[in-house]
Amino acid sequence: DAWLRYAPYPGAAGHKAFLPQTIFALNTTTTSPVYTAGTELALGLKSIYDLQASVEYQDALHYTTCPGKHLIVGTLSSYDAKAHGVRVPELIEDGYFLDITPRRVLIIGQNERGALYGAFEYLNRLGQGNVAPASFASNPDAPIRWVNQWDNMNEGGTHGSIERGYGGVSMFFWAGVVREDLTRVHQYARILASVGINGIVLNNVNANASLFNENNLDGLKRIADIFRPYGIRIGLSLLFSSPQSYGGLSTFDPLDERVIQWWHDITDKIYARVPDFAGYLSKASSEGQPGPLTYNRTLADGANLFARTVKPYGGIVLFRAFVYDSKTLNQTLDWKADRANAAVEFFEGLDTEFADNVVVQIKYGPIDFQVREPVSPLFSHLRQTPSAVELQVSQEYLGQQAHVVYLAPMWKETLDFDMRIDGKPSAVKNIINGQRWNTGRGGYAAVVNAGLNSTWLGSHLSLSNLYAYGKLAWDPESSAEELLDAWTRLTFSHDQAVVDTVREISMASWPAYEDYSGNLGVQTLTDILNGHYGPNPASQDGNPWGQWTRADGFSIGMDRTLKNGTGNAAQYPAEVAATYEDPETTPDNLLLWFHHLPYTYRLKSGSTVIQHFYDAHYRGSAVAQTFVTLWEGIKDKIDAQRYEEQLFRLVYQAGHSLVWRDSITNFYYNKSGIPDELGRVGNY
Ligand code: GCU
Repeated sequence: DAWLRYAPYPGAAGHKAFLPQTIFALNTTTTSPVYTAGTELALGLKSIYDLQASVEYQDALHYTTCPGKHLIVGTLSSYDAKAHGVRVPELIEDGYFLDITPRRVLIIGQNERGALYGAFEYLNRLGQGNVAPASFASNPDAPIRWVNQWDNMNEGGTHGSIERGYGGVSMFFWAGVVREDLTRVHQYARILASVGINGIVLNNVNANASLFNENNLDGLKRIADIFRPYGIRIGLSLLFSSPQSYGGLSTFDPLDERVIQWWHDITDKIYARVPDFAGYLSKASSEGQPGPLTYNRTLADGANLFARTVKPYGGIVLFRAFVYDSKTLNQTLDWKADRANAAVEFFEGLDTEFADNVVVQIKYGPIDFQVREPVSPLFSHLRQTPSAVELQVSQEYLGQQAHVVYLAPMWKETLDFDMRIDGKPSAVKNIINGQRWNTGRGGYAAVVNAGLNSTWLGSHLSLSNLYAYGKLAWDPESSAEELLDAWTRLTFSHDQAVVDTVREISMASWPAYEDYSGNLGVQTLTDILNGHYGPNPASQDGNPWGQWTRADGFSIGMDRTLKNGTGNAAQYPAEVAATYEDPETTPDNLLLWFHHLPYTYRLKSGSTVIQHFYDAHYRGSAVAQTFVTLWEGIKDKIDAQRYEEQLFRLVYQAGHSLVWRDSITNFYYNKSGIPDELGRVGNY
């Protein structure tokens, strides 16, 4: 149940007088999110406050004056606000109005989904023991608030795997087919809806076309039917070459009439089963995946091919900007080669070419979900094409859920970053929500990769990332700490010591992980060739993947300047470009991202690059040791099972952080020959 446990509230007795005894849910269709809201509200009241509220499902309110303490949940069209003398503030799609008075609670959605969101907001308050009167409208910051699952079909192969999934096997697929038992999908839908998620892509970006057989299309319908009452629409990742590899055509050229027809036919079959199908996600011409570039067509040709098929049904295409050629990059021969340049180069000149239902989905940084990256420069290049940021709840490079790394602070830095396009305020959050260019159609996607593990993600504390993701996609102004505190109360306990402890661990976790895994913008120094887990700084260089550090005996870092390097700094708008062009003005935490510098280079802090490496790795791993002691301090305040399971993880993290520390510091000590001023490194 994640944060929807609805654990009994300790002060329940004193609060009952403020709670509704009757719920009027203004929809009689069982698949409506308003109906779901009614059921969910009754469940929450019973579970949190031991209050058996009755639910009456009505298409329109039968009463002019409702009896007793009551709650009404409905939409602008099912609730006649005027007739009841209620003034509802302006609501946009999916928004809601919540009005809590001592006599009645009113939850009005702009649409059915909005009503459900309002109900979950009320339950969120109840779960935290908050029954105080309130009256406010809440509207989402952006229309796209999706999660991406990277679940494999595993046709004939290993079963139920999820690419970069650390929380067990797939809840959707098994050995090439859609599972019979989709019980867990119900629960996932509930969890996602409770934080405002309205779309889910079910399958891996490195997609497999076997999803399109009749049996699986029927399976998709079953999945969609489960998500629908929670206001969540399903989408699919596409394998670009499907017309050839699966459809038997001789080509997958996006401009070929047979190919176009093939995709229309597939799309029609999907919509025949799932009329509210959300649309497609496409990874094309990247990392060996087929795409339009195979036929010298543009990325826009590829995106528009799909966009036209879903357009008549109101669907959209999320076209990923994660496009680069992992085969031809050559570090040794080419000082100017730079994977970070790829997205802007590949999308160059295409801004006006995309169909109006295409949204470009851009990873937050230009490389690949690293512990620290500057924001992707592509956000500043698309003015007519809406964009969505791609975040990663699944902690691929960030400890794979075996390490606690609370990511909301990192995401907020990305969202708040001001790109200063044309010298004007241009925060990333205002680019993707469509305000900066008046496109109004972008938003948020996060790779989540929840699985059948009872914790969903693989560890208890990692779930705060999913909670925070949904809440930030709804309102990027939310505070990382407040989200965390609310999540802790709902998940573990109201005890202030528990809330304080989880906050202390979580808020220290990203800085600590950065300190012991790769600082100064050098990237997560993990094993990039195998699994992306654990330290392996040597693996970064000398391969075509382009996540290079260019470390030698004297110096380290990627020179991305215009004057001497790859020119990547110049892909940013002028003011930002000027900052990144010069090591003196580049923030220390991105120094080695943009500059190739001697180990003896002095930072703004006064320390040298190499000494900073040593100090940061010792500091970060020392912080990770404290997590164990902090957690032990709340032993008696949470249930034994979750206490023990998380303790196991934290002890492991503390140990693994030492492995990180010693591997990295020794590696650079051996490379540079410069001793640690404090005599720690190489001294065992
Ligand atoms: C990362 C990840 C891959 C994934 C890719 C993507 O490189 O390791 O597993 O396919 O990102 O986002 O497409």
